[in-house]
Amino acid sequence: MTGICGRPSRVRLTAHGGPVVDSCSRIADPAVNAVSLIAAKRDGHTLPAGDIKAFIAAYTRDEIPDYQAAAFLMACFLRGLDAGETAALTRAMLYSGEVLDLSDLPGIKVDKHSTGGVGDKVSLLLAPLVAACGVPVPMISGRGLGHTGGTLDKLEAIPGFRVDLSIAEYRDVLARAGCVMIGQTDTIAPADRKLYALRDVTATVESIPLIAASIMSKKLAEGIDALVLDVKTGGGAFMQSEPDARRLAETLVAIGLDFGKPTVALLTDMENPLGRAIGNGPETAEATRLLRGEAPASGPADDVVELTIALAGEMLALGGAASKPADGRRRAREALAAGLAFERWVELVELQGGDVAYLDDPDRLAGPPVAEVRAGADAVGFVGAIDSRALGEAAVALGAGRARKEDAVDPRAGFVLNKTVGAPVAAGDLLATVHASDPARVDAGAVARAFRYSPEPPAPRPLVVDRHAPAPPPAPGASWQGAPAR
Ligand code: URA
Repeated sequence: MTGICGRPSRVRLTAHGGPVVDSCSRIADPAVNAVSLIAAKRDGHTLPAGDIKAFIAAYTRDEIPDYQAAAFLMACFLRGLDAGETAALTRAMLYSGEVLDLSDLPGIKVDKHSTGGVGDKVSLLLAPLVAACGVPVPMISGRGLGHTGGTLDKLEAIPGFRVDLSIAEYRDVLARAGCVMIGQTDTIAPADRKLYALRDVTATVESIPLIAASIMSKKLAEGIDALVLDVKTGGGAFMQSEPDARRLAETLVAIGLDFGKPTVALLTDMENPLGRAIGNGPETAEATRLLRGEAPASGPADDVVELTIALAGEMLALGGAASKPADGRRRAREALAAGLAFERWVELVELQGGDVAYLDDPDRLAGPPVAEVRAGADAVGFVGAIDSRALGEAAVALGAGRARKEDAVDPRAGFVLNKTVGAPVAAGDLLATVHASDPARVDAGAVARAFRYSPEPPAPRPLVVDRHAPAPPPAPGASWQGAPAR
């Protein structure tokens, strides 16, 4: 059997050269026959961990062509991967590159990963808040794609903010500010970068084991000791149905535990957008105002703060700064109210090159208001729901998000909602303001159509739908007995 260019598809692999590797990665990989591996998965067999490792290592080194990797991904998509295969795939992707070692820095390092939503600016509040409570947060984030936003784009809305720090700078900012927020480097999980791009064009993204291995390989490479996952469910989420989101949460947590990292997942609601701002500059402005303790102009208890506190409680408990999440939530609330998180935010922005003057006047981060969205004649009673996916798509059309990875974003574009779910509404009321550098791209009708009305106030939806925090399997010498109860 031959591969591309007539080359034999049977490859022999040597150890990879990442700077920090576990002992098993130093053992030379056995040979793997790509066609046999694809056929085995196609026929529903369980793949040996060593074959998965060898296949991924060879693909990363361009020794397996994209068409074989695509066939492998489709076989995995259709047949699924069991827990052992998913862990093996994660390990192979993790050790395809550099695995950071932050053990010389004091503290239990805890990060948060969100599966992505609309208006989700929580990371901007959470990292400085948790750091202010004494738990270091090394955060490697992504960019927005499709209807969901990305933390890197929100940070870059602050003029001068650098997300492309070297690893030395990453460590330095973490040591000084207690938190750091950068983008994925070329050396972290390179197999994931190649495979994700391939999945994007081969209809193999929506597979729970492939998603979980992709997310966890990047997170585990950051040098974390523990992880909190915010797995979204609802119309604006990547995993819209609750059973799918729950399965993803369970898979992600199982991988974390398999790697010896205490891991907790919150299943959270993403039916309606989070907060009032959608779009990078407007969201960074909103996050900054919330860190400054400036409440939103009107509306119900702020969901952004509530979710931040819920996640901070978990992180503080995992990081040893609280006995249980409830204690962590109380500490986080106090730190936020005392302005400690805002102080950390300013320090982080300054250390990463951002212009801190914008944090004193955050509305400058958004473009000028270019249009008002007003309720039509059908608006009676209350705002019953806001279609977050439709708003996310309208943000892409405005230039605030990306339809394709290569697209540039307008950092100052977005919407600020004047009415949120549950607010009374009548025809002609101001629903939202549109901010943009290019008024030609505004489609106010698309924003208005995202609003649904109801004659009665809608039933409140729980923000945290569930919590998944199992104890890890007992291991010799293991001290972690599962996350403390709420
Ligand atoms: N996010 C990731 O990092 N990987 C996926 O596969 C899906 C979402």
